[in-house]
Amino acid sequence: MSKPLGAITRGTTGRNRLRRSDRWLVHSPAVRHALESAADPLVVDLGYGALPVTTLELAGRLRALRPDIRVVGLEIDPERVRVATRFATTASVEFRLGGFELAGLHPVLIRAFNVLRQYPVEEVPAAWSTMQAGLAPGGLIIDGTCDELGRRCCWVLLDGDGPVSLTLACDPHSIDRPSDLAERLPKVLIHHNVPGQPVHALLEAADRAWAAAAGHGVFGPRVRWRAMLNALRDNGIPVEQQRRRLRDAVLTVPWTLVAPT
Ligand SMILES: C[S@@+](CC[C@H](N)C(=O)[O-])C[C@H]1O[C@@H](n2cnc3c(N)ncnc32)[C@H](O)[C@@H]1O
Repeated sequence: MSKPLGAITRGTTGRNRLRRSDRWLVHSPAVRHALESAADPLVVDLGYGALPVTTLELAGRLRALRPDIRVVGLEIDPERVRVATRFATTASVEFRLGGFELAGLHPVLIRAFNVLRQYPVEEVPAAWSTMQAGLAPGGLIIDGTCDELGRRCCWVLLDGDGPVSLTLACDPHSIDRPSDLAERLPKVLIHHNVPGQPVHALLEAADRAWAAAAGHGVFGPRVRWRAMLNALRDNGIPVEQQRRRLRDAVLTVPWTLVAPT
C-alpha cells in the first residue's frame, strides 16, 4: 500500500467531545438522505486521535439511522491504529492506517474533526479534493474544529463539488456572544474573520441579534439563541431551519453566505 497522505499531528481527543456534530449529523436532512440512500453505508472517521472513542460514539449514534452502517476509523499514525484495534469489538467498526487518500475506501460520509486545523491553510484545498475524489456517489464530508470539551464547535459540510454549508454549534451557557466561536472556525475561514469578509459580517450580525435578544435571557440562553436565529432570518440571513428542536444552540448557513471574497 502507498504511504498515507498527510502528516501526523497532535492526537488530542476526549469522550463525547464531538457529540454536537454527531447529533447534527443524525438530524441533517442532507446527511440523512446520503446515508439512507447509500448502496453501501460506509462512513470514514479520518484522524480519530490517541484513542478511538469518538469513532465508537459516531458509530453508535449513526446506527440509529441505519443499523447496517459500517464505520472505519483511519489514522495516519500507525501506533494509534495499533492502540485502536483493541477497541474494535464489533464487525461494524474497524481501524486502519490511512490518510486523505482514504486507504482506497469509498465512503458515503467522511468526518475529519480537528484534523485540518493543524495543517497550513494552503494545504486545505488539496486535502479536500483528495477526499472528495474518494467519496461514493452522493457522498459528503464534514470538516470541523472544536474546543477540548466540545462546547464550541464549527464545521463545514462539503459534497463532491465543494463546500455546502457552515455550522456553528455551542453550549450557549459557555459563551458571552456568538462571535466567541470564531476561535474554532475551520482553517479555511479562521484567517478570513476580519472586517470586510463575509464570515466576519455574519458573526457581527449574530452578536447584534444576540444583544437585542437579551430580554429572552431570563428564559435561558437556549431561548435567547432561538430569538437570535429568528432575528437573523428577519434580517434576510438564510439560517437553515432545524428538522427538530435540538438541545444544542446551532446556526447553519449556506456556504455562499460566508465564502471568503
Ligand atoms: C487532534 S486529533 C483529533 C481527534 C478526534 N478527531 C477529535 O476531534 O477529538 C487529530 C488526529 O488526526 C490525525 N491525522 C492528521 N492528519 C491525518 C490524515 N491526513 N489522515 C489521517 N489522520 C490524520 C493525527 O495523527 C491525530 O491523531
